[in-house]
Amino acid sequence: MSTAVLVAGGAGYIGSQTCKILAANGFLPVTIDNLSTGHKEAVKWGPLIEVDIRDREAVLKAISDYDIKAAIHFAAFSLVGESTKDPAKYYDNNVAAATAFASHLVEGGVKALVFSSTAATYGVPQTRLIAEDHPKAPINPYGDSKLAFEGALHWLSQAHDLNYVVLRYFNAAGADLEGEVGESHRCETHLIPLICQAALGTGKALTVFGDDYATKDGTPIRDYIHVVDLANAHVEAIRYLLAGGKSDAFNVGTGEGLTVLEVIKAAEAIMGMPVPHSVGPRRDGDPEILVADVSKIRSTFDWSPKYSDAETIIRTAAQWQKTRPY
Ligand SMILES: NC(=O)c1ccc[n+]([C@@H]2O[C@H](COP(=O)([O-])OP(=O)(O)OC[C@H]3O[C@@H](n4cnc5c(N)ncnc54)[C@H](O)[C@@H]3O)[C@@H](O)[C@H]2O)c1
Repeated sequence: MSTAVLVAGGAGYIGSQTCKILAANGFLPVTIDNLSTGHKEAVKWGPLIEVDIRDREAVLKAISDYDIKAAIHFAAFSLVGESTKDPAKYYDNNVAAATAFASHLVEGGVKALVFSSTAATYGVPQTRLIAEDHPKAPINPYGDSKLAFEGALHWLSQAHDLNYVVLRYFNAAGADLEGEVGESHRCETHLIPLICQAALGTGKALTVFGDDYATKDGTPIRDYIHVVDLANAHVEAIRYLLAGGKSDAFNVGTGEGLTVLEVIKAAEAIMGMPVPHSVGPRRDGDPEILVADVSKIRSTFDWSPKYSDAETIIRTAAQWQKTRPY
C-alpha cells in the first residue's frame, strides 16, 4: 500500500504539482484545502478534503482514514503587497491556522512535516549568496509570518514527537511539463506569468519596477526554480523525514540569478513575440539581488535542479498561460 501524505494547500500552484510528483513516486497525496486561492480542478492525483486546515475533526479523520504518515504544509496567503495592507489576515492564516494544523497533526500522531517557507524570511541580503544561517530580518508581514511559523515548528518539535523540514523557496516558476497543472493565481503578482500574459495579450503591459539597481542592466536579480524541481525537493524532504532525518531548514533555488530584463528577453526569444513593457519607479522593499546558496540541499538530499533553465521555465509557463484550463 502506498504511503499517504496529507497535503495542506494541494489545490494551489506548488501543492498540486507536488501531488503529481508524490503520486509518480508511489505516495498517495491527500489534499486538504479550503479553495480560498486554489482550484478543485488542480486536485487530480488523490482525494480532496475541502475544509480549512484549522478544522480539527476533519484533519484527525483524514489522518485516521488514510493512515497519514507525513504532511506538507503549503496552505497560506502569499501576496507581499496585501500583507503590508492587511497584516492581521497574514498572521491569522500563516501563523494561527498553521499552528492549529500542526497541533492537529501532533494529536493525530503524524511525526513528519514539510513546511513551505520563503526567501522573504531573510529580508535584505547581506551576502551575494544567501545561506540558511543568514540573519532573518523580514521586511514585510508575509515574510515575518512565515518566520514566525518556523519558530512555532521549532518549539512544537521540542515539545512533541514531530520532525520537520523547512524549505525556503526562492522564486517558483514554470508549469507542469505535461501541462496538467500550472500557475493560475486569481491575483497574479509573479513576473513570469505576467510576462506571458503581456506577450499573449491576455494581460496588461508589464511594468518593470526600477532600472537603476547596481546590476548589469539595472534591474533586480532573482533565482527562479522550476515548480517540478521544487516538487521533487518536497518528495526528497518527505523521504528524509520518514528515514528518521532530523529537523532542519533548506533553501530551494538554483544558486544563479537572472535580471528582470534578461527574463523579458528570454521570453521574447522563446515565445517569438514582443513583451510590451515600460519602466516604472522602484517598489518599496525590493532587494537588488536574491540568490540562494543551495549547497546544503544538494549535499543532504539526492536533489539538484533539472528543469530550472530559462528556456524550460518560460516554455512551460507560456504553454500553461495559452490554455489555462482553470
Ligand atoms: N509561489 C512562490 O514563488 C512561493 C515562494 C515562496 C514560498 N511560497 C509558499 O508556497 C506555498 C504555496 O504557494 P502557491 O504559490 O502554490 O500558493 P497558492 O495560493 O496557489 O496555494 C495555496 C493553497 O492553500 C490553500 N489555503 C490557504 N489557506 C488555507 C487554509 N486556511 N485552509 C485550507 N487551505 C488553505 C489555498 O486555497 C490554495 O489552494 C505558500 O505557503 C507560499 O507562501 C511560494
